[in-house]
Amino acid sequence: MQRRQFLALSAATATAPALTGCGGEPKGFPVNIKAGFKDSGFGPESTAEEVTEGLDLSGKTMLVTGCNSGIGLETMRVLALQGAHVIGSGRTMEKASAACASVEGKATPVSLELTDFDSVLDCAEQVEELGLPLDALICNAGISGRKQKQVVNGIEIAFLVNYLSHFLLVNKLLPLVTAAPQGRIVHVSSRAAYRRTPPDGIRFNTLGESNGGFEYDSWEYYGQSKLANALFSRKWAQKLAATNATSNALHPGFIKTNIARGQGRLTEIAFDIVGPFIAKSVEEGAATTCYAAAHPQMAGVNGEFLFDSNVVSVGGDHHLENDAMADRLWNVSEEMLGSYLG
Ligand SMILES: NC(=O)c1ccc[n+]([C@@H]2O[C@H](COP(=O)([O-])OP(=O)(O)OC[C@H]3O[C@@H](n4cnc5c(N)ncnc54)[C@H](OP(=O)(O)O)[C@@H]3O)[C@@H](O)[C@H]2O)c1
Repeated sequence: MQRRQFLALSAATATAPALTGCGGEPKGFPVNIKAGFKDSGFGPESTAEEVTEGLDLSGKTMLVTGCNSGIGLETMRVLALQGAHVIGSGRTMEKASAACASVEGKATPVSLELTDFDSVLDCAEQVEELGLPLDALICNAGISGRKQKQVVNGIEIAFLVNYLSHFLLVNKLLPLVTAAPQGRIVHVSSRAAYRRTPPDGIRFNTLGESNGGFEYDSWEYYGQSKLANALFSRKWAQKLAATNATSNALHPGFIKTNIARGQGRLTEIAFDIVGPFIAKSVEEGAATTCYAAAHPQMAGVNGEFLFDSNVVSVGGDHHLENDAMADRLWNVSEEMLGSYLG
């Protein structure tokens, strides 16, 4: 990729509308290839097939959550195409089975409903029973912020689905990741993690029923859940530093998928109209995930944030590297999960 092209994308998408959750603010978050990392050669228009071209992933097992739609489906399709055995999760076995049957190569369905911790534990068991190390654990499933605040079992739904249940899943499956020669945890975060959070990052007093005295803003809730993904990745990277395993987070781009569901009909219609003009294709949208999960250039790369299949640094005022917040998030997550963590 041309560095100019990369920077142009950053500038262009910064003007994307707020409904994407990927832009909307004027400026202030310059994204550049991180010092010490070479241009990967890929960019915003690279597809998942292109970033994995020529790779032989046979013998590798990779789990993708949310395999039946959007970025997750394309990620599964391409990883399986290149020879990986993909374990694909869907909210029901029927959805996962249909998605797995739709791709060429080996794909095994598992059920995972992220609003239900029992389902997360059951999913972890289904995966453990396969008896395979995990070369990649891709936390992809997610929802946008809801039009109105929605709380399930006392936990705000975007935080629950996008982050907290993945926290439980990763903790349960970690032994399988570290059993792989170079297991990779990949967290599909978003640029909303720095563009759309409240100014103070995660508002811990809004994770339950309470709005903490603030007006409800669905994108701020989405943003803080995606910041949680990034901080969770950072924390794992620190914990895994002495191992061969790695943990990285990424922004996939703005892609017209089903992600706007739940934002209300008007937003969905706007998404449908605007999307085709400014969005990446799904094939492009899955590239950064596949690059992080499978590309040899990512071997040993740990604790980074990726954008357009490159390791980047994000400038400006944000919380992506806020270790105190990451520590607090970890402790709060453990408390919220209680006995589910075992
Ligand atoms: N599209 C973008 O522009 C964009 C930008 C930045 C980040 N992302 C992130 O990319 C990831 C994938 O999103 P996408 O754009 O591909 O959206 P999508 O097409 O809506 O796919 C989301 C996936 O997550 C699953 N999911 C939703 N709620 C779930 C739950 N309660 N339990 C289990 N699975 C659940 C969905 O299953 P069902 O189909 O059964 O609901 C679906 O498989 C998300 O983490 C999103 O935040 C997307």
